[in-house]
Amino acid sequence: MKAITSMFAAAGCLLAAGSASVAMAATEAEATGIAQKNGCLACHELDKKKVGPAWREVGKKYSGQADAEDKLLVKVKKGGKDVWGPVPMPPNATVKDADIKTMVQFVLTLK
Ligand code: HEC
Repeated sequence: MKAITSMFAAAGCLLAAGSASVAMAATEAEATGIAQKNGCLACHELDKKKVGPAWREVGKKYSGQADAEDKLLVKVKKGGKDVWGPVPMPPNATVKDADIKTMVQFVLTLK
């Protein structure tokens, strides 16, 4: 229990430090760490098309669209196709919502 409490305390410090410079969005290292852990990077890279589109292209495409975050949260969770081509993204149903949110918010900061 003690270990868990101090883990949260440490996370709280990180968040507090991060939010001073970048409102909301995770740093590239945080977001790619989460993406690595959840298998997203098997199909995605930041700057290069792989199985799925380069995340930088995704960020460009949705730049300035207010509803993009909500749309992409659902898309990543449920999967889908035909936005970038006929190859489908499988559902990522086991990935934590908070992790998907962190990654989508990060992708939307890319230009
Ligand atoms: C098996 C390969 C694969 C994996 C794993 C994968 N993706 Fe994708 N992703 C794709 C493909 C293919 C597309 C393009 C789908 C389309 O054209 O609609 C895509 C599209 C996307 C898009 C853009 C969606 C849109 O509608 O414009 C985002 C954002 C995204 N992926 C994030 C993620 C995240 C976050 C993860 C990890 C939880 C992930 N992907 C895991 C293959 C994958």
